[in-house]
Amino acid sequence: MITVTPEASGFGAVVTGLDLAQPLAADALAAVKAAFAAHGVLSFPGQPLTLDQQEAFTLQFGAFGEDPFIVPMPGRPHILELRRAADETAPNFGAGWHSDWSFQPHPPAATILHGKVIPPVGGDTLFADCAAAYDTLSPAFQRLCDGLTALHSARLPYGRDGVYANETATRTMTILTGPAAEAVEAHPLVRVHPVTGRRALYCSPVYTIGLEGMTREEGYAILGHLYQHIVQPQFQFRHRWAPDTLLMWDNRCTLHFAEGGYDGHLRVMHRTTVAGEAVIGVTAN
Ligand code: SIN
Repeated sequence: MITVTPEASGFGAVVTGLDLAQPLAADALAAVKAAFAAHGVLSFPGQPLTLDQQEAFTLQFGAFGEDPFIVPMPGRPHILELRRAADETAPNFGAGWHSDWSFQPHPPAATILHGKVIPPVGGDTLFADCAAAYDTLSPAFQRLCDGLTALHSARLPYGRDGVYANETATRTMTILTGPAAEAVEAHPLVRVHPVTGRRALYCSPVYTIGLEGMTREEGYAILGHLYQHIVQPQFQFRHRWAPDTLLMWDNRCTLHFAEGGYDGHLRVMHRTTVAGEAVIGVTAN
């Protein structure tokens, strides 16, 4: 029987009582979807899945998302292996607060990460609750944000002059950089969740490059305030990994950050994404 245990932090939950290697029965799938909507991040400990099983689990929530800029696993176009070797010195992948691929017209609704090799220290994944962060802004600042449009792009990490293009240390993962990463996509700064109807801040220091109609300084003043606000401890939840845990997060209302601190140890994760929808803002409601 499915048991959903909310994290003490107030968002995120641990789900037990299911075997994710098998297709979920309709009532179990509905319960997982309800828990996902309620908690934003779900962890399923003790799930030793094969690649086929992770793909099949993912497809129960929608079509695969499109994963650009990272060469996928051989023969598995929808699985990224996030591998960092013990002797690697390049910064760990995902070490900046972000919502996955928010520069896409239809960013992925969910990301699913399966822990394969977990280092004995470090390597936690941190999450921030962007709906709770929105709820605690003053009404006047909420109204300001409700009417703003944010500009998203992959150029800071993946562009021709981006972080990965300028990297000198070797990296196990093959990351592609170039002009395709420099396209800009506009999304509402406040996103209305298509399932819960809750409003959440939708911006990140990795992918948001400004606010429409504002100077760079104006945009960064507002965005900088929002980033400081979102990542406050009261909105955060720290996921500590164990091998065979499957973690699933909602990119529409959370940010995440992959912590390092495991130099000298191998870390291997398998990642799939679930396709998402157009980003709906407050004024469109
Ligand atoms: C990511 O998908 O951003 C990486 C998360 C992690 O490796 O913990």
